[in-house]
Amino acid sequence: MMNILVIGSGGREHALAWQCAKDDNVQNIYVAPGNAGTALEPKCQNVTLESSGSSSTDEHSAVIDFCKNNAIDMVIVGPEAPLVTGIVDACRDAGIKAWGPTAYCAQLEGSKTFAKEFMESNNIPTAAYQGFTDAAAAKAYIDEQGAPIVIKADGLAAGKGVIVAETIEQAHEAIDDMLADNKFGDAGSRVVIEQFLQGEEASFICMIDGENILPMATSQDHKRAFEGDTGPNTGGMGAYSPAPVVTQEVHEKVMAQVIQPVVDAMNAAGHPYTGFLYAGLMIDDAGDPYVIEFNCRFGDPETQPILMRLQSSMVDLVTQGLEGRLPAKANWDERPALGIVVASKGYPETSSKGDVISGLPELDADNQETVKVFHAGTAFSNDHALSNEALSNEKEVVTNGGRVLCVTALADNISDAQQAALAVTGAISFDGAHYRRDIGHHAITREDAS
Ligand code: AMP
Ligand code: GLY
Repeated sequence: MMNILVIGSGGREHALAWQCAKDDNVQNIYVAPGNAGTALEPKCQNVTLESSGSSSTDEHSAVIDFCKNNAIDMVIVGPEAPLVTGIVDACRDAGIKAWGPTAYCAQLEGSKTFAKEFMESNNIPTAAYQGFTDAAAAKAYIDEQGAPIVIKADGLAAGKGVIVAETIEQAHEAIDDMLADNKFGDAGSRVVIEQFLQGEEASFICMIDGENILPMATSQDHKRAFEGDTGPNTGGMGAYSPAPVVTQEVHEKVMAQVIQPVVDAMNAAGHPYTGFLYAGLMIDDAGDPYVIEFNCRFGDPETQPILMRLQSSMVDLVTQGLEGRLPAKANWDERPALGIVVASKGYPETSSKGDVISGLPELDADNQETVKVFHAGTAFSNDHALSNEALSNEKEVVTNGGRVLCVTALADNISDAQQAALAVTGAISFDGAHYRRDIGHHAITREDAS
């Protein structure tokens, strides 16, 4: 029997833990730090890893100590931050199996400049760009290029450090925010200015074991806060799988022009890529893919609908990945799945804590095979640390962050999945809750047209 540690606290980690818990060979899943949803999941328990200091080395040591003390057979790392600081390298050095890229490979997400230079030198299609640390030089470049134009903070900014400027004035403002006012802290002390790409976005996520590539089902995320794809960029307001824009032909182009070159270039650099790799793509009218960004992890909220469709065991796949023998294909439910993120008051600018959530479905509801509410920013009232003790007291579930829940449904087509997810979402309420009713609209337009 296996014990697994999942690192993270979002909807992605709830979905990963939930999928792993289905495997009969799994005994315990620890989620650090987890959320109210992972605390309630069978076989799962939340743990707080006490670190002796705040450096990444201290944090890595806390993970390693926990794994040694709890006979952990594999670590699955959800978010990018620990990957970028080298949690996988540290675990490997300590003889612990951890699924994810090394710090070197995680630079594909951790530094937009690294990613752009990597793409340029490996002929991976992407938008033309230039990097700046000086505001005046950045503005002069914007004036020369014209609008629309895209401004990005160089470092990690939780999906929010990107401004798609419609006008030159907006672009200048973004430069002032990032370079002059330091709105994104160190992440924004350097900016990348990019050509605006036109087309339809898709998320292309793979598992890679250094050599073999296992593509996950395709998906599409909705990054903007409001309906009609308007408002500020967020970490993602909903997603569905599969993404019809990724036809078989587009799929083959992405594998050949984007994913395989990453695997080959990382091997050539002496740093084999292992773990999840997420290519955020713009597919143009000719069906040609351009990389908007790489992430070194699974997507959130893409994980939720994708794993709702996964019929293979994630534990088997990660085991095979760790042993360098990933299969070329996994088994998927033919039916599409769609997830709607319910966000808290003020998200993405701010987020709320402690608002009581009502209307969550019972965990043993009849429809749990086709509808699942994944938790993200949730906690139990009076207990933000989420000890298991809290459970026995039947504490209320409260908000604890920006993206609170992801209501995910599986159905015969995307419209039905959207309706099923909306029905459950409509029954859930908390002060300031907001969500988009149009998740999946690109695919639904295609469905209606066919
Ligand atoms: P990123 O964090 O780089 O994925 O950017 C967030 C979002 O901004 C993307 O999902 C796109 O919707 C948009 N975006 C980023 N870069 C570009 C680009 N070069 N052209 C058009 N839209 C972009
Ligand atoms: N959903 C976008 C991301 O995971 O970065």
